[in-house]
Amino acid sequence: MGQQDSHVMKTLTQFILGLVAFAILIFVVAQFMTGGFYNNDQSATGEADDSAIAERIAPVAEVTEAGDTAAAGGDEVAATEQSGKDVYASACFACHGTGAAGAPKLGDKAAWSDRIAKGMDVLVGHAINGFTGDKGVMPAKGGNPALSDDAVKSAVEYIVEEGK
Ligand code: HEC
Repeated sequence: MGQQDSHVMKTLTQFILGLVAFAILIFVVAQFMTGGFYNNDQSATGEADDSAIAERIAPVAEVTEAGDTAAAGGDEVAATEQSGKDVYASACFACHGTGAAGAPKLGDKAAWSDRIAKGMDVLVGHAINGFTGDKGVMPAKGGNPALSDDAVKSAVEYIVEEGK
């Protein structure tokens, strides 16, 4: 091995040792943070404890909920727009995002102006109960009966806002 090679080997070895040490450190810290040592003791005695697992999973769920609440809180209008947008994305985009089945496209002002002129109540009613027009068939709730009337309404509000 030449001078250069052994230098490379040495650097590499140090680097790998460093990585291993770092991994061990992370592992130990993670064990402490998740109460892993405590739970391991329990399983060592043969008591597989579901609640211990639930405990470890719970904080993650709480963080997610807290995040959602924080996002939904504060500005009520923003929250409505957000959920309307979500409903649109999951239940309406297939047609209204692409123009499939003759659906007026999101943001196509020419296609929406006459419809918007019908008034919000009519549009929401058509979206909830279904509607057959010159262009095609708008299925009730976009073909998703699991949606609440409010969810459909917020989606219509979102679509109308984008079509103005
Ligand atoms: C399977 C395709 C399809 C899906 C999914 C769909 N739509 Fe439609 N939608 C249509 C079509 C086609 C029209 C146009 C009907 C016409 O005027 O001929 C329409 C029209 C509309 C209109 C205008 C109604 C009117 O009176 O002019 C609204 C509002 C609407 N859709 C809302 C929604 C909402 C909200 C969703 C999701 C919850 C949704 N649509 C999902 C196909 C769809």
